[in-house]
Amino acid sequence: TVMHGVFGDPIKHSKSPIMHNRAFRVLGLNAAYAAFHILPGQLKDAVAGIRAMQFRGVNVTIPHKLEVMDYLDEIDEGAKAIGAVNTIVNEDGRLIGHNTDGIGYVRSLKEEAGFGVAGKKVLILGAGGAARGVSYALAKEGAAAVYIANRTVSKALELAEAVRPFTKSDGMGYESIQDVRDEVDLIVHNTSVGMHPNVDDVLIDTSWFHEGLTVSETVYNPLVTRLLREAEAKGAKTHGGLGMFIYQGAYAFEYWTGREAPVAAMREAVLEAF
Ligand code: ATR
Repeated sequence: TVMHGVFGDPIKHSKSPIMHNRAFRVLGLNAAYAAFHILPGQLKDAVAGIRAMQFRGVNVTIPHKLEVMDYLDEIDEGAKAIGAVNTIVNEDGRLIGHNTDGIGYVRSLKEEAGFGVAGKKVLILGAGGAARGVSYALAKEGAAAVYIANRTVSKALELAEAVRPFTKSDGMGYESIQDVRDEVDLIVHNTSVGMHPNVDDVLIDTSWFHEGLTVSETVYNPLVTRLLREAEAKGAKTHGGLGMFIYQGAYAFEYWTGREAPVAAMREAVLEAF
């Protein structure tokens, strides 16, 4: 059995094992995927365990995505630029780090909302780890502008600077959204506001949302956030947050197995587990 897993803290509620084990089963692969609760301070040993036990692949989640980079043999260009690894591929003992969050997000946006990024202007809400991956992927896919708004403005400015080699970019506080709102085609929510159990929270004023806008979530618990409900009420197109989770997993699965991920089956497994 070819072994895979996910390292995180907390990890109990991870839907990754259900998703990947369903994918292995659907394709008839002799492989398995388990969740590992890796405490701070034990990550280095856990990574050594990947080699010792000849795991083929591991996902890395909060809080280990940054630190894990110190223990790998190679880090791909995208993960380097984002500054975080969420997927490790074990090539005969050589551990290679990737980041599939951003590219997973872009693929989900295309497949599920029919939204092609090239030439579009985007407003990112949030400047944390998730926002970094999404901003980088959108810029690389040819977005005409990537604006970043965040509560802590210095983090928005920092992220905008990191994205600027690839496209036009600016950072700002939420009160400055009004300066760019007429030109943006897509809004991507990348903070934890509205996440279970605080489902009645919404990050920004949505009264200006309109039909020409696509509003996209990365929060997937609840599946439909207040932000998405308000966007829909304004006639905007909406894109739910589950897609990013499914497609980051799909890319990881494809790196490990070389097979096309059975995305529909993976989604079904995750939805059943909710
Ligand atoms: P992740 O890796 O999941 O993105 P993170 O790096 O901790 O997590 O980033 C969390 C994001 O949610 C940040 O953009 C954070 O804003 P700050 O940088 O100003 O802290 C945002 N966030 C979290 N709680 C928030 C709140 N109550 N109001 C506004 N923004 C919030």
